[in-house]
Amino acid sequence: MFEAGAMVQFAGAGSVVLEGRPTDGGHIYLIENGAAKLPMWVPEDVLIAQQDRGRPPEQFNHRIPHLLAVDDFFRDPDEVRAVALAQPYHADARYYKGLRSDVRFLWPNLREELSRLLGVEVLEWLGHDANGVFQQTSQDDPLVWHHDAQSYAAAVYLTPDPPPGAGTSFWRDKTHGCRRAPSHPLEQARLGSEEAVTQAAKVIYDGYNFEHPDNWELVESIAGLYNRLVIWDARLIHSATSYEAFGQAAAGKTRLVQLFFFDVP
Ligand SMILES: [Fe+2]
Repeated sequence: MFEAGAMVQFAGAGSVVLEGRPTDGGHIYLIENGAAKLPMWVPEDVLIAQQDRGRPPEQFNHRIPHLLAVDDFFRDPDEVRAVALAQPYHADARYYKGLRSDVRFLWPNLREELSRLLGVEVLEWLGHDANGVFQQTSQDDPLVWHHDAQSYAAAVYLTPDPPPGAGTSFWRDKTHGCRRAPSHPLEQARLGSEEAVTQAAKVIYDGYNFEHPDNWELVESIAGLYNRLVIWDARLIHSATSYEAFGQAAAGKTRLVQLFFFDVP
């Protein structure tokens, strides 16, 4: 029991108990919290737990965004698109769908700009071979449900007036509920055992599931608008949303993106 006038901690700030009240679920207390003195009703068991001196002082995990969109990214996207389309391209079905530029290009200061947007240092940058490639896909290409090996990925969409659904989608595996690689710490914690992680990996890396939608439910989708940068946690299971509305590669009007792969702490 907390008495009216008692000093307590809540959400890392000193608070005053104003009154208590019994409810069907147990006692609740009205407290006045922190310097702003905002009132809040708090269940007794929560208030007791909040007095544990071993708790971190803040409510937040201090994570970086798992998904971030920035519109109007390049100052002159038409120029970037012209550069992209001037490149020679090649296919390599072992590693990706569609066509990738023979050379990659990393815009000066881009690393610093990604770092500014995410609020953390970009660590590995030049070392990821495909970082900075241009990629074109068309209606002939299959979607691939996958995650990437490095920690973060980004794309700038470079097809003007894209059809709806031209962007990137993020999925959850229907069998085990994984949104990320099963070995990711968040999934390991959720799955609870090495055995469960192994079972989930069998489903997520199954060759059929790699190229078919049956095992996946959509969590969120982001539109591939012209000159939009999207940054995401590359360990999230993702795919292009759809290639259906794009032309065949030979006829032009492909889905053109510049891709970035890098590591953050
Ligand atoms: Fe990917």
